[in-house]
Amino acid sequence: MADAVTKLAYEALQQGKSLVGVAHKEISTRLMELVAPAGAPKTLPIPPQMLKDLQASHKALMEVDWQEAEEGLYPTALLFDAPWGDWAARYPLVWLDMPSTWTRRSERNVRDLPRDVETDNYPDYYLQNFHHQTDGYLSDHSASLYDLQVEILFNGTADPMRRRVIKPLVQGLRAFADRPASSLRVLDVATGTGRTLHQLRSALPNAQLVGLDLSSAYLRQANRWLSQRPSELPQLVQGNAEAMPFAEGSMQGVTCVFLMHELPAEARQAVLDDCFRVLEPGGVLVLADSVQLSDSPQFEVAMDNFRRVFHEPYYRDYIGDDINGRLSAAGFSGIRASSHLMTRVWTATKP
Ligand SMILES: C[S@@+](CC[C@H](N)C(=O)[O-])C[C@H]1O[C@@H](n2cnc3c(N)ncnc32)[C@H](O)[C@@H]1O
Repeated sequence: MADAVTKLAYEALQQGKSLVGVAHKEISTRLMELVAPAGAPKTLPIPPQMLKDLQASHKALMEVDWQEAEEGLYPTALLFDAPWGDWAARYPLVWLDMPSTWTRRSERNVRDLPRDVETDNYPDYYLQNFHHQTDGYLSDHSASLYDLQVEILFNGTADPMRRRVIKPLVQGLRAFADRPASSLRVLDVATGTGRTLHQLRSALPNAQLVGLDLSSAYLRQANRWLSQRPSELPQLVQGNAEAMPFAEGSMQGVTCVFLMHELPAEARQAVLDDCFRVLEPGGVLVLADSVQLSDSPQFEVAMDNFRRVFHEPYYRDYIGDDINGRLSAAGFSGIRASSHLMTRVWTATKP
């Protein structure tokens, strides 16, 4: 009985988030059409069948999220966990930030970055306003709004989609079941503000967690958020995922969430090659990113609209890319993949 009520509460929460996300996007698009019509994105209408498919996939995502909590992969409390107070306080800032986003979009200005950024420290492809967001990934202001902006973009499904890396990761780590859990090292590549690390900590309370990102501002935000529970605090390292500052074979598990679509093709391969290098033989890589045209052709319009609304310079190339082929080229075997709403999850093993 208690379980049924909790499940209902979870579904109601997800439906509520979805409504807020849809309403927010509808209002902001209408406002932009009024205030900055030249830059307002021209999106394609969602066909009725696609809407039905999206609703069915959303339902399936909630179901698998609930089931995997029931299986004990992570606590049910994680399904309700979010910095609600913090997000409520930041929500007005998301609106206040919008006019500058609209201006950049209207002017097609995608290199509007803080003046003090040491550009030599970053690859050229990184020095852009991804999603037209203020300061790109290069300021505390951007880092402070990012989580909420992603929640709105995905209608509240970002964490349920991120959690899909947990099961294949936990299963992959069973290859090291003869070792103490506290000796296992799991690296989250492009960890951003640490939302995936937070989910992983609930599932792997004893493992050593490490997060890597190019943005020191995003890592500061991750540190602020994760250090609210000091026992959870992972090691946070600034670095380029193409050449990570970790020894060969030093990790038993690697996750990487929502990075691939923001990289040019060569960098995508370089990141997968380096994930392979840092894994110990027998170790597991779990990669999560946008679905692609080959696995989810029914969502082609949604993929196209994403690219039209946000500055995502490598997305079109990504959705047609052969990630299985790239994983094989990096040396991985046992490659398998599954889709969860708008996220594709690949699991691969280092032989
Ligand atoms: C779309 S965000 C995803 C963040 C996080 N994984 C999540 O689930 O929210 C992309 C992240 O990749 C980071 N990033 C982009 N290129 C990178 C690179 N070459 N090396 C390391 N991090 C990179 C960005 O700083 C940003 O935090």
